[in-house]
Amino acid sequence: KGLKDQMIIDAGQKHIGATICKSCGMVYSVANPEDEAHHVQYHQRFIEGIKYTSWKNEHVVAEFWDGKIILILQNDPKYIIKKADDIRKLVDNELGFKHVVQTDPSQTKTYLFVSNEKKIVGCLIAEPVRQAFRVLSEPITVESPTKNSLEHQRAWCCSTKPEKVYCGISRIWVFSLMRRKHIASRLVDVMRQTFLFGCSLSINEIAFSDPTPDGKLFAAKYCKV
Ligand code: ACO
Ligand code: ZN
Repeated sequence: KGLKDQMIIDAGQKHIGATICKSCGMVYSVANPEDEAHHVQYHQRFIEGIKYTSWKNEHVVAEFWDGKIILILQNDPKYIIKKADDIRKLVDNELGFKHVVQTDPSQTKTYLFVSNEKKIVGCLIAEPVRQAFRVLSEPITVESPTKNSLEHQRAWCCSTKPEKVYCGISRIWVFSLMRRKHIASRLVDVMRQTFLFGCSLSINEIAFSDPTPDGKLFAAKYCKV
């Protein structure tokens, strides 16, 4: 009983003063100096990271009422490549990806969604992939004290038969405060139209690599369109 009470008290404290930053989207506790310090650090890096200033010779591949999509290719100027790399690091950090080996950077195409407020609020990284394995069933949830819930959700079944695809989405990300505005959908739509020169890819010709729970919910919805 003692332990349970303790847990409830801890959980309660965590929520005291919990606030969400309207600029960077971080949830933190104003009552906790360590948390606040962490926020200040994260906030600066994030705001700097998503900042966009018009680039000369940028490839605008789509324009919308709330923003535009820019395609970044490996032969773009160095400062543009660096920005794409910074965004990738931000995304990897949020996704918990560490030391991800890029297949072939020269073949990678990065799509950025830039809002009218000149902030990079969406990112899609695509690379040529030849085959993929179709996800067959809903994830199986097995109770196991050694594995966390994220791993549970990732344990879905795949077909053993490879299918031909042309493009793999290695990362897709939308700023937390801008989700569910079809930014990710528009990034995938535009990628499908522009990834290969002169032809448009069907939904069956693209694949999502190792999606997160969010990514899977999005992909499942998108692919049924
Ligand atoms: N829960 C349930 N359904 C969802 C979710 C969700 N979290 N996200 C998207 N969908 C479905 C909805 O049906 C939605 O349509 P609706 O809003 O009209 O109902 C539809 O997908 C289209 O969603 P979008 O608005 O286009 O998606 P969004 O711009 O919000 O971006 C994304 C989705 C990229 C997954 C975002 O939630 C995100 O950045 N999450 C954190 C990072 C992440 O996990 N990325 C995926 C990694 S996997 C990979 O990169 C291969
Ligand atoms: Zn902040």
